[in-house]
Order: sequence, then structure tokens, then C-alpha cells
Amino acid sequence: AQTPTQLVLNADQGRDTISRHIYGQFAEHLGRLIYDGVWTRRDSTQPWRMRDDVVQALKRIQVPNIRWPGGCFADTYHWRDGIGPREQRPSIVNTNWGGVTEDNGIGTHEYLALAKALGAEPYLVGNLGSGTVQEMHDWWEYVNHPGHSPMADLRRKNGQDAPFEVRFWGMGNESWGCGGNMRPEYYADELKRYASFLPGYGRVRPFRIAVGPSDADYNWTEVVMRDAGRMIDGIDMHHYTLAGSWANKGSATQFDEGQWFRSMRGAMATDEMVTRHSAIMDRYDPRKRVALIVGEWGTWHDPEPGSHPGFLYQQNTMRDAVVAAASLDIFNRHADRVRGANIAQMVNVLQAMILTQGSQMLLTPTYHVFEFYTVHHDALLLPIAVTSREWYKLGTDSVPAVSASASRDRNGVMHVTMSNLDPSHAHTVTLDVRGARVSGVSGRILTAPTMNAYNTFEHPDAVKPAPFTGAQVADGRLTVALPAHAVVVLELK
Ligand code: AHR
Repeated sequence: AQTPTQLVLNADQGRDTISRHIYGQFAEHLGRLIYDGVWTRRDSTQPWRMRDDVVQALKRIQVPNIRWPGGCFADTYHWRDGIGPREQRPSIVNTNWGGVTEDNGIGTHEYLALAKALGAEPYLVGNLGSGTVQEMHDWWEYVNHPGHSPMADLRRKNGQDAPFEVRFWGMGNESWGCGGNMRPEYYADELKRYASFLPGYGRVRPFRIAVGPSDADYNWTEVVMRDAGRMIDGIDMHHYTLAGSWANKGSATQFDEGQWFRSMRGAMATDEMVTRHSAIMDRYDPRKRVALIVGEWGTWHDPEPGSHPGFLYQQNTMRDAVVAAASLDIFNRHADRVRGANIAQMVNVLQAMILTQGSQMLLTPTYHVFEFYTVHHDALLLPIAVTSREWYKLGTDSVPAVSASASRDRNGVMHVTMSNLDPSHAHTVTLDVRGARVSGVSGRILTAPTMNAYNTFEHPDAVKPAPFTGAQVADGRLTVALPAHAVVVLELK
């Protein structure tokens, strides 16, 4: 028998704040995310309307920022196509995602209206791959210039007097791939040109976000930090969790334990990647001024049978929920350097929070994890030390059986999130709380009878949160009985 997982929560050793921006979303012009997912219309003669059901649900997870318009789409996007009277906007071809016609019905103003409706900060990704420095500069001036200028006056003509005050600004997307297939040295030179033409306007200073590495490409981080680190505020790493190969990722819902295990391993690999990218950044930026932003992350499965293969529409099970929880715990624990992240993607694409079908909507298991984790937004990270660890083993491979992170919010309340990565066995965890008195605990749990349980439009509540009674406190020690494939959020009293 293995030693159980024993953790120590050092409640008096908090130092770093968990930025709420770790809980950011990603909304690309891809498949049915923008059109159908967030905006709808009765027929092609009608204007697009924001879906109130989707907006209300997203409000409940307190979306802090939304990355838009891509993704690969961003490096094909020319922002002027998406402003002004809708009937005069040109149609383009979405070459990355299904070759469908994009009529630019949703553009800068509509996206910024969504961000406002959600109380989220906008995060625009400018076109560095096929655009120009002037074009990106003009977009920046269009959304931010407070006085009279050619672009600010154009914005006013289009109905918006006050500047939108957009701070988060990406310069290209995956420039090592769909964004231009560049070497890091070449990208760093380009990045410096683009970053040079984003002046401060009014109250807004740009938070300049460079294209970061794919997964474990440490050389990319090294070169960009070395050559351009002084001109950026964030670097955007991407890491997707696959249960198979890129050619054969496997079904989102019909999977065996081997595929479950590979998903857990993919999620847990984030820890080593973040640690090593951060170590490189520390050499060029020891004061941690530049944020590591995990601008795309999450599970990537085969598209649902019958759906358009270019639309990346996938279901979402308890496996996705546990991947989300373990990944968010990792980001929390690296709060000193990871100060932003964007799950891919918000609605109807990849590891979505919400799926829609006509006028119906369902919340995915991943949505419920994001709702649980709102307790960590802008809270003080409380370090957890591991004194002994139980492993979830498959064959000769293993991952930690339990993931956890903890924080104290502005009202002084401590929360712990925990998940069981093992799909078939319960695990008991002890958590000694040092540096604070704890005499009670309450919590909620997300689990289901099977590891591949999911919500459908017929049964939208098959996987939903429930009160959790498996945690007890005695003498400052918390004992938590975690069922198989489960995520819990605990409030310590
Ligand atoms: O999220 C889907 C795609 O994955 C994005 O467009 C791209 O940046 C990444 O490769």
C-alpha cells in the first residue's frame, strides 16, 4: 500500500497574489464560437444579437479577460474589415478554420461590447503575420486615443466617443507556426518594430504580449527574452493536452483508461514547462516584471462525429474537468510568474465552458470547475508543501494522484481546491493547517458515476456540483476523502 497524500498548508506564508487573469477565456473566429455561440440571429437578413443566456452564464464565472480575435485567425485579420456599417463590411475567407465565409458582422465594437457586458478586460491580438506595423498602430490608436486623431475620429464616426481603453495587446499568434513560420530571432526583431509603435494614450499604457513558446520549446523563450525581453510585459506560451497524437487525438467521450491517463500526464506536464520557462525568464528578468501568460491551453480531442472537422467542436467530460482543475492549480502555484492564461476556447470550440445548439445551451463540467475556482481570483496564494504523495499509476508510468492549491481571499477566508486524478480509486488526503486556526470546513464537489460522464442537451445536469461532506477537521488537521475522478472546493472556517 502507498503512503497517503499528506499536505501542509502554510497559512502564514502567503506572498503572491493569484491574478484573476489566470481565469481568462479565448474567443476566436472559429467554428460556432462567435457566430451561434455568443451572437445569434434569426436569419441572414437580421443583425447579430448577443445571446443573453450565454452572457448570464459567463458572468457567473467572472470572466476576467477575453483573448480575441485569434488564434491563427488573428494573423489573417484586418481590423478595418470589421468596423462601420455592417452592410458595407467586406466578406473574407476564414482560411484556417474550414474555409468558411466570414462576413465580419462581429468586429471590434461588437467584441468590446461583449467584454463590457461581462465586466472582462479586452485582450486584442494584432496581426503581425500578414499585417503591417502601421495597421497595428492604427488599431491601437482607434481603440485608445482619447483626443482628436484620424483613428479616434473614425471611431467616433462609428458611434463610440470615449476610448475603449484596451491594455492587453498581443503581437501576433504562434509566429513559429500559423502566424508566419518564423525563427525566434526573426520574430524578436519583428516584435521590436511592432512594439515600438504602441504609444501610451491618455490613461492607457500598453501591456505588450509577445508570442511565446509552444510547449517545451525553451529556445524560443530564451531568444525572445534575450533579444526583446525589455520591450514586452508578457510572453504567451501555448500548451494543449492530447490523449493521442495530433493525427489521432481520440474521442472526447469514448475513451479508455490509457487515454484518461495520457490526458492527466499532459496536464501535469504543464508544471515542468512553466517551471523551466520561468527559470529562463528569471535570468533575463529576475524581478519578474514580464508575465508568463498561458494564452492557449486545454484539451484537444477529435471533433464530435458529424460536426465540421474545421470547427473543433468537442464534448466535455469529467476528464476535462479534472484536467482543468489540475492545470489551474499549477497556474495558481506559479502565481509569481504566471499572471494570465486563456483556456481554449469559451463556447463551442475545444475545451469549452458552454455548448449551444440552436437556442439551447448547456454548461460543461469545465464550466463548473471555473465556477469553483472563482474563489482564487485575486486571492493570496497560500503555499502547500507535500510531505508524502500517493501516485496514480498505469503500467510503468505514474502521475500524482491528487492536485491542490490554496488561497486566502480579501475577506480573510481560506479556500482549498483539490482533485483526484485517479479515475477508479478514492484517495484520502490529510492537510495540516499551520499558521492559522481552523475549526470547520464546508465544500462542494463535482463528480459523476463514470469518468466519461458529460452533459447533453437532453440531460444538461448529468454532471453538476453538489454539497461535499467528505472533509472533516480535527486539531487543525483536515482529512479529505476524495472520490475517484472528482474536483472539490473547500472553505475553511
Ligand atoms: O485554438 C485553436 C488554435 O490552436 C489556435 O487558433 C492556434 O493559435 C492554436 O494552434
